[in-house]
Amino acid sequence: MQDKIRKHIADIETFTCQSAEELEKFRIHYLGKKGILAELFSAFKNVSPESRKETGQLLNELKDAANGCITRMKESLGKPGQGSEDAIDLTLPVDDSIGSRHPLSITRNRITEIFSRIGFSVEEGPEIESDRYNFGALNFPVNHPARDMQDTFFIEKDPDILLRTHTSSVQIRYMEKHPPPIRSIFPGRVFRNEAISARAHCIFHQVEGLAVDKDVSFADLKQTLLYFAREMFGPQTQIRLRPSFFPFTEPSAELDISCNICGGKGCNICKHTGWVEILGCGMVHPIVLENCGIDSQKNTGYAFGMGIERIAMLKYLVRDIRLYFENDIRFLKQFGSAF
Ligand code: DAH
Repeated sequence: MQDKIRKHIADIETFTCQSAEELEKFRIHYLGKKGILAELFSAFKNVSPESRKETGQLLNELKDAANGCITRMKESLGKPGQGSEDAIDLTLPVDDSIGSRHPLSITRNRITEIFSRIGFSVEEGPEIESDRYNFGALNFPVNHPARDMQDTFFIEKDPDILLRTHTSSVQIRYMEKHPPPIRSIFPGRVFRNEAISARAHCIFHQVEGLAVDKDVSFADLKQTLLYFAREMFGPQTQIRLRPSFFPFTEPSAELDISCNICGGKGCNICKHTGWVEILGCGMVHPIVLENCGIDSQKNTGYAFGMGIERIAMLKYLVRDIRLYFENDIRFLKQFGSAF
């Protein structure tokens, strides 16, 4: 009988289990009414007086071992990540949330959908660019500050390989390969060496637009942008164009829309002006057309470029650009969308 008890003690010492159910089976097996201990205690009556003391001690050891094992196992099952049924309640109803699109994807899809509807194709270009596509062919002077290390992430110097700072680079790639008529938009990710703040990030997204053909005019640009603004921000939206400067367009302008928050009355989003800027645009500079092998005597074009983060911030009233990149589920789950 003593050997039997020692064997049980040894078994208990090596016992492990993965679930509360298994542990309960163990408890019943050793400590239950008809369990091993009950059986052994009843057999104890017949033990000879000489070995009674030693057997009794062994029996108590076995009981302590079984109880000790149960306490230990309960503790380890209680710790999360160890297969505990106490920590994860499998009987709870399933979380039926199905996820949602990222607000930047929703906004990009909406922008491309609006322009696709009026005949623009959607094209993409590389994020790693040479100086020519990002600056040179776009008529940036050699000493332009945008070419500075402060603004641009360089991968290699001489010849310069860099992360594109805008999607205007795709204009050049597209015009080199496709003769007019051109009517395309180029969405994509861009990179700038900027300090990260509520208003700026070193990675963001843009959509570039380009139309080149015979007799494309500034009026075409204006009407296209008015259509876009009203589709994006609602039919009551007004636009205004302010003169600006970009090396690759002449004339250049910036487009404001009437503040979609206060309807133009003035609020802190529009800094009480009633207008918010959404994009840069202009007529493609003849030098840029020629750089891409397009005859600027026969063709004219317009271009525009907008930040997707900015459009989404105005659309959804997001006050901090960093929210787009932090993947905080409390932020993301507010944008349920089938689009
Ligand atoms: N590339 C400009 C930027 O990143 C935006 C831009 C302005 C694009 C005017 C254009 C344009 O195509 O015509 O700030």
